[in-house]
Amino acid sequence: MSLDDYKKAAALAALDYVEPGMIVGIGTGSTANHFIDALAKIKHKIDGTVASSEASAKRLKGHGIEVMDLNATGDLSLYVDGADESNRHLHLIKGGGGALTREKIVAGASKKFVCIADHTKKVDILGNFPLPIEVIPMARSFVARQVVKLGGNPVLRQGFTTDNGNLILDVHGLQIAEPAKLEAELNNIPGVVTNGIFAIRPADVLILGGPDGIETLT
Ligand code: A5P
Repeated sequence: MSLDDYKKAAALAALDYVEPGMIVGIGTGSTANHFIDALAKIKHKIDGTVASSEASAKRLKGHGIEVMDLNATGDLSLYVDGADESNRHLHLIKGGGGALTREKIVAGASKKFVCIADHTKKVDILGNFPLPIEVIPMARSFVARQVVKLGGNPVLRQGFTTDNGNLILDVHGLQIAEPAKLEAELNNIPGVVTNGIFAIRPADVLILGGPDGIETLT
């Protein structure tokens, strides 16, 4: 079995959280794509979806699944998305695909956040995966200098613009011992749209696919 098979297994397990009549928040990335493909088979049971990226919206529409505007739906019952890392408290690093801001908005608007991933994403301390920060273009250099003061090594993601027209700094070299504190601290730097730590609003359920099957953490 490959890592992709484990991602797919986690995505299929997340279908158990989908209830009739729900509007489902949908994440971004290869694991979320497996979830979208699985959701297509039960699309008649749900009322629609809210997508966290243009890429996911396109994939959903390709399956004939309705994509709605979060401003029109109000809060959602369920959000399903992948992650780049998770600790045992279900604090996450997200944004490897650059969709972190819309992901954080939809996660924040959802009653339950089910995170789906392969087993390699579970770590003791967050930060081995470079932490993505979405920045307003004119603030790129200023934000990078503030991040260096916090002990990080920011690298501009080359040739990449977010769905919101901004840039991504990938911050290497952080050992994130207090995720919620660093999340708030980084978000306080003028020019930061948001950063990829999901600790103030962590996942509620983590479904990991691996060689021993599915592991579910709450
Ligand atoms: C997208 O911006 C990310 O937050 C993804 O959720 C994350 O990178 C996980 O991606 P994969 O499912 O492709 O591993």
